[in-house]
Amino acid sequence: MDKKLETLRAKLAEAKLGGGQARIDAQHKKGKLTARERVHFLLDDDSFEEIGALVTHRSTDFGMAGQQFLGDGVVTGYGTVGGRLMYVFAQDFTVFGGSLSETHAEKICKVMDLAMKNGAPVIGLNDSGGARIQEGVNSLGGYADIFYRNVQASGVIPQISAILGPCAGGAVYSPAMTDFILMVEGSSYMFVTGPNVVRTVTNEEVTSEELGGAQTHASKSGVTHLVAANDVDCIDKIKRLLSYLPQNCEDTVPLLPYALGDEYRDELTDLVPENANQPYDMKDVIAGIVDGETFFEIHENYAENIVVGFARLAGRSIGIVANQPTNLAGVLDVNSSKKAARFVRFCDCFNIPLLVLEDVPGFLPGTDQEWNAIITNGAKLLYAFSEATVPRITVITRKAYGGAYDVMNSKHIGADMNFAWPGAEIAVMGAKGASEIIFKKEIEAADDPAAKLAEKEQEYAETFANPYRAAARGFIDEVIHPRETRRKLIKAFAMLEHKVVNRPKRKHGNVPL
Ligand code: HXC
Repeated sequence: MDKKLETLRAKLAEAKLGGGQARIDAQHKKGKLTARERVHFLLDDDSFEEIGALVTHRSTDFGMAGQQFLGDGVVTGYGTVGGRLMYVFAQDFTVFGGSLSETHAEKICKVMDLAMKNGAPVIGLNDSGGARIQEGVNSLGGYADIFYRNVQASGVIPQISAILGPCAGGAVYSPAMTDFILMVEGSSYMFVTGPNVVRTVTNEEVTSEELGGAQTHASKSGVTHLVAANDVDCIDKIKRLLSYLPQNCEDTVPLLPYALGDEYRDELTDLVPENANQPYDMKDVIAGIVDGETFFEIHENYAENIVVGFARLAGRSIGIVANQPTNLAGVLDVNSSKKAARFVRFCDCFNIPLLVLEDVPGFLPGTDQEWNAIITNGAKLLYAFSEATVPRITVITRKAYGGAYDVMNSKHIGADMNFAWPGAEIAVMGAKGASEIIFKKEIEAADDPAAKLAEKEQEYAETFANPYRAAARGFIDEVIHPRETRRKLIKAFAMLEHKVVNRPKRKHGNVPL
């Protein structure tokens, strides 16, 4: 027996070394952790159980039969984060550059299948040169097996992808179909075709970093949701993200114990400036509502005219969608609509109640917006809110104009509670624009058209630039003092805790993609 145990020990030790010490050293030299180190930092101490450490590839072409590494370039298994079950795969760049072979893919599929059957999140730590070139179509098939599972798991269990090295070609489509992507500055990139192909096809000169680095995807494309300074920071962010999420679509996020006593927040009272054209930072409103420092922003540098993220409210995990007056006056446009719609749909998949903070002057006009389909993209947000069955509450802090009033979780599309601050302006459009249209003839005929316009503007503003018309119709449930917003929301979300909505039977809706 001793000899057999020694064989086992030797094999497991070999598997732990991946592609060998020299390649591990090279990985460290790039400032990157190895796959095993990443898993170690991610999971609770001693909780990792590995699956498939002794798997080897089946390829024989190009001398591959003689190049075997136990585990075949991916570390897979399960463990816990904060005591909760998680499935994980971590691509090992020290083995054939983390490239994906048929068996490497099978290992990933195995943990994904287990995660689905047992209802727990899957965390993918990606660091790979893409398809294992020596395997050809076997590798492509392996990718497709993963893609298929990504889609089956979508909305059933949370799927999180960290990009910790290269991720190129069709390989990008697995992360793209997961719920959240995190990238590390300086050491990760994602693109469908790299700089060389770009140069050949379009004559553009671009570096990998410019084309598909973390900052590019965080600010220009919106592909990545979070950016980290290094591997450890990335893993910390994954853990923080997980703390706001349930295990699966039938689960709810555990309530954290929270001692009340700070429900009134005076700092909210005068936060909105008197002048409606003056901006204020909606993140100050968020900070004035949520528990301590719990706001965790998603997509921070993309479409900054809308803010989305998770927070805790009296210990309850909530998702927040908020117009941002400091950026483009908080207007809705193509990118902000897409960003918010995706977030709303995620929260609805996973039973996370939604809080909307609204200060929106309308949709952004212009050819750029129209030609880039603000119609279809704005509809995404309207659709996302309308189909969401989680508890949904809106607070109008200032402007709620035009179609954007309807879209931003209005009562009409199913919001459960709609609050407004006393300075709220709820109307078809701003007083000036409205007066210029409906009093056009009267203004033109006046001896002093400018004075007439000002008079009509005042009249329109007094009639509509307030929350009371909407409150009289019941579109607003309550006009509240800003300082009591937190208290009202805590009580309302508790009241909605057991909300049930039955939707008509159908295969699935046809969201305007
Ligand atoms: C097999 C690979 C590999 C791959 C890298 N290696 N990529 N082996 N298949 N795709 C191996 C290298 O031979 C090397 O082996 C080791 O991994 C490290 O690679 P280096 O080139 O030394 O590292 P580095 O300089 O850091 O460059 C990393 C890299 C580069 C940028 C990823 O290796 C690269 O460009 N690889 C090819 C990428 C690619 O074209 N992939 C196919 C994309 S198409 P040794 O033995 O020296 O350690 C695709 C389609 C997917 O993925 C479709 C899905 C639908």
